[in-house]
Amino acid sequence: MLDMINKRAQEIEITGIRVFANQVEQYADGVNLTIGQPDFPTPERVKQAGIKAIENNLTGYSHSAGILELRQSVARFFEDKYNFSYNPETEIIITSGVSEAIDSVLRTILSEGDEVILPAPIFSAYEPIVHLCGAKVVYLDTSDTDFIPDPNRLNDLITDKTKAIIFNYPTNPTGVTISNEKMKQLVDVLKKHDIFILSDEIYSENSYAGKHQSFAQFPELKNQLFLLHGLSKSHSMTGWRIGYVLGPEDIMEHVVKVHLYNCICASVPGQYAAIEALTNSLETPNEMNKAYIERRDYVYDRLNKMGLHAVKPTGAFYIFPSIKDTGLTSFEFATKLLEEEHVAVVPGDAFTTYGEGFIRISYAGSIQLLKEGMNRLERFMNKLTK
Ligand SMILES: Cc1ncc(COP(=O)(O)O)c(C=O)c1O
Repeated sequence: MLDMINKRAQEIEITGIRVFANQVEQYADGVNLTIGQPDFPTPERVKQAGIKAIENNLTGYSHSAGILELRQSVARFFEDKYNFSYNPETEIIITSGVSEAIDSVLRTILSEGDEVILPAPIFSAYEPIVHLCGAKVVYLDTSDTDFIPDPNRLNDLITDKTKAIIFNYPTNPTGVTISNEKMKQLVDVLKKHDIFILSDEIYSENSYAGKHQSFAQFPELKNQLFLLHGLSKSHSMTGWRIGYVLGPEDIMEHVVKVHLYNCICASVPGQYAAIEALTNSLETPNEMNKAYIERRDYVYDRLNKMGLHAVKPTGAFYIFPSIKDTGLTSFEFATKLLEEEHVAVVPGDAFTTYGEGFIRISYAGSIQLLKEGMNRLERFMNKLTK
């Protein structure tokens, strides 16, 4: 029967992010530095809002686009914090995490043979969906421009087949953010072309160097932009599965159909918890950020001392040091480190071939875990360079 399944489903692979996370579990003393989720619990009042919804039997389906009160909370959040406005009735859909938003938007806009530009290295969940749609990924190399796309390179890659480009700032896996000036240069290119922009800003609330810069702050992009956002990272709600997509009304009318046939609606108790997160728990990310900044500084200093140099992260909770000087591939490095020191990191090539020569370390874990991880990594590096 296997030969009867969709060829494209056969061709996509399980993300390399999970491979080392699964393997480290076999070691009782394993240190897992792959995890892309906060080590904080969901805030108490957010949990209580979800529990209350269940107790009040708010457990049926909701409107496909999501509970209106939540869509209004999403609109208010962006209006108050970032000063851009979206109509909760027609321009916002609540999804099962940003993952489902990516899927629903791409399946709405892509046709066979289309091209999608991905600045790379990049998060591993976009490429497989583009592939499943029969479209083709075109990579924009950022590995030699400190992981920020060069506007001229972008311009050169746009053809009459280009349907969309996907951005993700702050970025998984590199932890970089983008300046207003750089963003403007990209906007100047993008606004001249009829292409969609998907901006995955799931880490917006984890920005450490000034205010988060959003593509949604440019009104000239409004008709071509999808802003993807959610609560998994900002409020430590990865298991609640709540995200949202904001986009142009005439296209969102079609996205909501794809979303409807995919999952009917996002989890309803989760949606009630999300209202609480977006109205009364706005300080939560700032509290978590204090811990992330301390962890980032610690890991950055330790890595530098070992000769593992990285662009200093200004957002998300990942750092992406170069391992090129070791002469190992990123996969060899991660495998040896796991076998010899029981430490799991993600090889950079899990984020496209443009990530080769780097490893991704998550500093979302506790400082104790990071200390142990860095001690073992240092011992490993000492052995390598002997
Ligand atoms: C850049 C990026 N987008 C989306 C997701 C998935 O988010 P969600 O839990 O909302 O589906 C992740 C998770 O790691 C991510 O790093």
